[in-house]
Parts: sequence; C-alpha cells; structure tokens
Amino acid sequence: MARFDPQGAIAIVTGASGGIGRELVRRLARAGTIVIANARRERRLSELRDELARIVPAVPLPEPVVGDVSDPEVRERLVRRAAELGDGRLDLLVNNAGVGGIGPFELATPERLRRIMEVNFFAPVELTRAALPLLKQGRHAVICNLGSVLGHRAVPNKSEYCASKFALHGWSDSLRAELRPLGIQVTLVSPSTTRSEFFDSVIDSTPGTTSPNWGSWSPERVAVATLAAIQARRSEVILSLGGKALVYADRICPPLMNRLLALPPEEAD
Ligand SMILES: NC(=O)c1ccc[n+]([C@@H]2O[C@H](COP(=O)([O-])OP(=O)(O)OC[C@H]3O[C@@H](n4cnc5c(N)ncnc54)[C@H](OP(=O)(O)O)[C@@H]3O)[C@@H](O)[C@H]2O)c1
Repeated sequence: MARFDPQGAIAIVTGASGGIGRELVRRLARAGTIVIANARRERRLSELRDELARIVPAVPLPEPVVGDVSDPEVRERLVRRAAELGDGRLDLLVNNAGVGGIGPFELATPERLRRIMEVNFFAPVELTRAALPLLKQGRHAVICNLGSVLGHRAVPNKSEYCASKFALHGWSDSLRAELRPLGIQVTLVSPSTTRSEFFDSVIDSTPGTTSPNWGSWSPERVAVATLAAIQARRSEVILSLGGKALVYADRICPPLMNRLLALPPEEAD
C-alpha cells in the first residue's frame, strides 16, 4: 500500500493547543505539511504558530481555527479553510481533540456523558462527514482517529469515556471498510496513559478519584508513533506495553479481565 507523504500535504489537526495534538503538529510542520490547527485556547495556538514560524519558516502554519470542535460552525470553518488552502483537496484529518471524566457512573451527571460523547464521538464523526468530499481528492488520504486502549477494554470509573472511545473504534472500523475502495485509509491510534494535561481538564470528576499513570508515555512519544502510523497508513495501532497487555489479555481471556477489574482497589494491587 502507498505511503502517506507529509511533504506538501494539507492537514487538519483538532486539539492542537497541547499534549499529543501539539506534538503532532510540530512534527508534521517539520516534515513539510501545511497544518490547519484547531483548539479553543487561542493564545496557545498563536504561540505554536510563532514557534513554528521560527523553526520552519518555509512552511508557515496557516491561521488556526479557534473554537470548540463540537460546534458545527467551527467544523465548517475548518473545512472551508482546508478547501481554500488545498484548492479542494485534504490529505490528512487528525481527530485528536478529546476530554475525559473520572468517577462512578452513579454519581455522575447526565451532562458529563453528553459532553464527552459530543467532543470525543459526534465532533470527529461530523467533521469527517464534512471533510469527506475534500479527502476524496486527497493524495493517499488518511483519517487518523485518536482512540484509547479504553476503547478496546473498558475499566471502572471511566464509563462515559470508555463508551465514547468504543464508539469511535467501532465507527472507525466500519468507515475503513467503506472508504478503502476510494483510497482513503482510516487509522485508529489507541494510546494508553499519556503525561499530558488531559487529567487536569477532566469533566465534572468525582472528588478523590484518580487515574493510575504507571508505564505512561510522553505526548512526544505518542506523536512519533502516531506520525509513523499515518505515514505507513496503518489500520490500527495500540501503544505502550501496559496498553497492549490490557487489550490483548482481554482478547485472550475476557472473563479473567472482568474479574480482575471488578476487584476492590486494595485487592487489585
Ligand atoms: N492523556 C491520556 O492519557 C490519553 C490516553 C489515551 C487516549 N488519549 C486521547 O488522546 C487525545 C489527545 O489527548 P491529550 O492527552 O493530548 O490531552 P490534552 O493534553 O488534554 O489535549 C487535548 C487537546 O484537545 C483540545 N480540546 C479539548 N476539548 C476541545 C474542544 N471541545 N474543541 C476543540 N479542542 C478541544 C485541547 O485544547 P483546548 O483546551 O485549547 O480546546 C487540547 O489541545 C484525546 O482524544 C484523548 O482522549 C489520551
């Protein structure tokens, strides 16, 4: 299968103001990709733009699209900007923006579920729908969805997040089969715990609940693996040893994982 060539490619990356998304934009820009970056924090995006203007003056980052990706108007602006810059063509769409929530389902509000599904599932799906006409004109186009190992094996206290990433996983698999005849690849990248700001911005979390971060990866390392998966036009990658252990142990013996994950925390240690 042909590789994705970042040189001269036109890309959209959502969630580009921090963590994995920002690292990926840095790497894509250095490889010669024209990246339309999106996030809500305007200052972060303009700092990134200034930084890249110094490092890669030959490929300036276009004016970012600031705003909430769950807003249809923001998604429209992203697609319009891509159409202008790529003359009707888009080569890469990275659906990276995402949010979490920690704590038992019973104590959570319905709003937490709605918000997580809006940002992690409906926004990438609808952005992809709007971008498809441009992607069909792309050069070996790739839609890269940032899932999670928790979209392969669910764990307690993150029910809404797991549901959103399972939905993204299922939709990605289905879309990949539909788009293959059109020459568009759908790449699902599933990181495990990543040392980004993700856990500082979890929605409406239950006080006292935390998330383990043993074996975690840096956002830089996740971005390197993500770019490699995009370039190789892989269907799916599961990152980190701990992430692979969780996913493959569940595939081999789901009843064992069900029992282990249902143990009270002190017995699970
Ligand atoms: N961190 C982990 O442990 C981990 C593990 C597995 C998978 N992932 C997935 O990896 C992806 C990136 O996460 P990360 O670790 O890099 O998290 P992060 O550091 O919190 O970055 C998230 C990015 O998404 C943006 N964002 C959040 N809500 C948005 C919205 N409504 N509209 C537009 N942008 C929005 C944030 O920018 P603004 O706040 O400026 O909008 C930020 O740029 C997510 O999909 C996440 O689910 C993360």
